[in-house]
Amino acid sequence: MDKDLIVPKHVGIIMDGNGRWAQERGMIRTMGHKNALKTLKELCIHMADVGVKYASLYAFSTENFKREKSEVDYLMNLFISSFKKEFKFLIEKDVKVLFSGRRDPLPEKVLEAMDEIVYDTKDNKSLTLNICLNYGSHAEICDMTKKICEMYKNNEISLDDIDDNFIQKNMYQDLPPLDFVIRTSGELRLSNFMMYQASYAEFYFPKVYFPDFNSSEFDKALIEFNKRNRRFGGVGK
Ligand code: FPP
Repeated sequence: MDKDLIVPKHVGIIMDGNGRWAQERGMIRTMGHKNALKTLKELCIHMADVGVKYASLYAFSTENFKREKSEVDYLMNLFISSFKKEFKFLIEKDVKVLFSGRRDPLPEKVLEAMDEIVYDTKDNKSLTLNICLNYGSHAEICDMTKKICEMYKNNEISLDDIDDNFIQKNMYQDLPPLDFVIRTSGELRLSNFMMYQASYAEFYFPKVYFPDFNSSEFDKALIEFNKRNRRFGGVGK
């Protein structure tokens, strides 16, 4: 990668197209998720190496529970084995893992594996990986609103305390805004992913399915990010 490229501080990835990747190869959909995990491991190492500070990954939406039970069960088991075994390399890479999303109705074993990896990586300092699991932006905004109303009801805050910064701090995780959102597979949608945090993000929609979105595809995305003129509502460069 060209060392003069600007690396976005916070990257969001909507890992789409696993099912189609598998079906086009005559495999069952879950094989797409299995291969996606291999890609994800490569990408995490690559993002840490190039200096991305925060990466938010859309792993499972609140709406994904509507899928066939066999696929949901497969994904839940994949999460358990990933957080318990496959992601151990993250500890060596100094990567910190956080989760965003509702705990209910995730299975107890998934929650245990999540808590374990959060604990094991809590002091790490290179890349922060925010895994969005049973996540939806609407749910996050509802949960944040309830939390703030509770604080107000308990006289812990006044209305004047509520500004952009306060909202950010009371989301599932206190993370900087997204700079760059990548959605693989050619779909042009946000699908309830970090709407608030993506307000001024640049968007990139490569045609490749997520299992093929490897480090060299990520580097192509970085080149595209560097072509954008970010104005944040102002007049720009
Ligand atoms: C979307 O593709 C993908 C998912 C709902 C699951 C994402 C899961 C992984 C990448 C596995 C590993 C993740 C972690 C964090 C351990 P799709 O199934 O909607 O594909 P389609 O649009 O082609 O049907």
